[in-house]
Amino acid sequence: MLFKILVILHTLGATVWTGGHLVLAITVLPSALKSRDPDRIHQFEEHFEGFGLASLLLQVITGLWLTWIYFPGFQSLLSFESYLSTYIGIKLGLLVGTLALAVHARFFIIPNLTKETLDSLAYHIVGVTLLAVLFVILGAGIRLGGLG
Ligand code: HEM
Repeated sequence: MLFKILVILHTLGATVWTGGHLVLAITVLPSALKSRDPDRIHQFEEHFEGFGLASLLLQVITGLWLTWIYFPGFQSLLSFESYLSTYIGIKLGLLVGTLALAVHARFFIIPNLTKETLDSLAYHIVGVTLLAVLFVILGAGIRLGGLG
């Protein structure tokens, strides 16, 4: 039962994190770039930031918990001997990439967001969104017994 609840929470968190970033990248960002108006992104972030970060935290907790169930004590996790350990290892790599992009954007770009720095933020948003979609693809791959 615990395993099922964790998978449901993990999937729910994925809808928020990945869905929110797809909305940002596909609808809000193009209109902000078109009108060179950083405020549109600020407005979205105002509503999504806390919710989005909570969902990412939920992903990390439920993801690591599921991993612990598959690999108790995380033993032989990083051996990459099975598709499962390979996919989970890649997901951990995606997590490092996501955190690096998010921290850089949050502390170095967003505080000084102007028309000039908008393009740099756009690259970050597209990057985090692509990583978010990859998280879902690899997650589905785990459930499907591999993507090959
Ligand atoms: C924003 C980040 C993440 C997203 C969007 C995401 C998304 C997903 C999705 C959609 C699934 C498929 C669920 C299913 O149908 O069973 C999944 C499964 C899984 N994810 Fe993640 N994930 C994220 C982060 C992580 C992290 C950080 C870990 C830990 C290393 C992790 C470990 C797992 C595991 C072990 C499964 C397999 C669960 C199962 O047996 O179905 N995920 N993930």
